[in-house]
Amino acid sequence: MTTVAPDPRHATSEPRTTAPGPMPEPVAGIRPHHRVFRVPGVYPVQRDTWLLADVLRAELADHGCGAAGPCRVLELGAGAGALSVVAAGVPCTDVTAVDLSRRALLSTRVNALRHGRRVRTRRGDLTAPVARERFDVVVSNPPYVPAATDELPVHGLARAFDGGRDGRAVLDRVCDEAPDVLTEGGRLLVVHSAFNDPALTVRRLHSRGMSAEVVARHEHPYGPVLTQRRELLCARGLATPEQRTEELVVVRAVRPAGC
Ligand SMILES: C[S@@+](CC[C@H](N)C(=O)[O-])C[C@H]1O[C@@H](n2cnc3c(N)ncnc32)[C@H](O)[C@@H]1O
Repeated sequence: MTTVAPDPRHATSEPRTTAPGPMPEPVAGIRPHHRVFRVPGVYPVQRDTWLLADVLRAELADHGCGAAGPCRVLELGAGAGALSVVAAGVPCTDVTAVDLSRRALLSTRVNALRHGRRVRTRRGDLTAPVARERFDVVVSNPPYVPAATDELPVHGLARAFDGGRDGRAVLDRVCDEAPDVLTEGGRLLVVHSAFNDPALTVRRLHSRGMSAEVVARHEHPYGPVLTQRRELLCARGLATPEQRTEELVVVRAVRPAGC
């Protein structure tokens, strides 16, 4: 089980500059002081990114570059592309980043360039732009914050956060679509919040024929977005009025052979 040091999360105010957050570390070749470029409106890398980066690095650590060729990695909802850049820093990987947002993909390309990494970018809705391809690893940090309505924002930073009333609108689609683009034995790594009911994620993946389990957890204080939504979380019975922390979880799922 991976845990990481506490850190405030969810810096939501728009940045004045384009480089607010450190690249997840330690990554071979990336020094901690390097910063992640992002165009305004793109999700700032934060605790959920870092937690997933830890799990992703461990997942890729022992993949070999044998006759099967490079490990094909797909990031769904790339944002500034930090996870794609991490994956591309592992020898013998072939990385594709998908996002709906042009600004996110521009940020991803800039970050890949700055770190000398090769990341292919595709704009579109989750797996749609890569529907005919297959990947060994799919990694995703989808928007998962419970929102006032089920209507998903169509632009701006809110598109990176809001996941419908239960926070599962995009998360459920990741669970449903990822198996279709995974190779046999391929793995999905997806981060979200305990507010989204991780057991439901595991059950949903089981129903798609995947084996699935929670492999990492991390509890940290509410940031500005969750602080703003405290009443909403309480009204939905997701949190108590006194609660000030959120637990993040990473679910790892494997597509068995013949599935
Ligand atoms: C929480 S951010 C994660 C960004 C980055 N992966 C990270 O961990 O820092 C979610 C990202 O998903 C993108 N997104 C939201 N809905 C999407 C969809 N249906 N298809 C593709 N990308 C989507 C948003 O634009 C945003 O960049």
